[in-house]
Amino acid sequence: FPIVVLISGSGSNLQALIDQSLQGELDINICAVISNKADAYGLERAKLAGIATHALNHKSFGSREEFDSELQKTIDQYQPKLVVLAGFMRILTETFTKHFEGRMLNIHPSLLPKYKGLNTHQRAIDANDTKHGVSVHFVSSELDAGAIILQASTSIEKEETAETLAVKVHALEYIIYPLAVKWFREDRLTLHNGHVILDGET
Ligand code: GRF
Repeated sequence: FPIVVLISGSGSNLQALIDQSLQGELDINICAVISNKADAYGLERAKLAGIATHALNHKSFGSREEFDSELQKTIDQYQPKLVVLAGFMRILTETFTKHFEGRMLNIHPSLLPKYKGLNTHQRAIDANDTKHGVSVHFVSSELDAGAIILQASTSIEKEETAETLAVKVHALEYIIYPLAVKWFREDRLTLHNGHVILDGET
């Protein structure tokens, strides 16, 4: 089951997918890892696991459209059944998101629809929220707004900082992202008319 993973940074979610597949818990084949940053540590993780890597520097393209078009070509050569965004910090064009509609997932560190975009942990603390968490969703053209598949939450304690909260949220990410990928892999998860269908239920 060919998968391509897109990253921009540490790639610890990528690692969770690699580990589960090595342990035989997730029957996927990560064919390639693509980063828009050549120094992303996630590329090292991929190489260590024997996975093909590509670094596509968005700054060397004249426009968002040109970058996305090259990115799409790079992904398509692997003919993946699923594209997994794992800390890929780029806003994507509508052409790109339409091309991968229903077969591209993202993980976002908030209880969507709350706190789309950046600095989610600090924003949840500043708003005096008592709960925070993470969401896995299908990617649509609107940033962090695609159909939600799965969420997990944690409490925000009195002394919580963005850093301590990030650690708690990450631990949840490593559980729910591989799980969502597993459901997709097992054909239990589809996007239909913008809605998530899981196990035949709407
Ligand atoms: C995660 O917090 C994820 O929710 C967000 O970016 C971060 C990626 O972390 N989209 P890593 O690169 O997987 O370690």
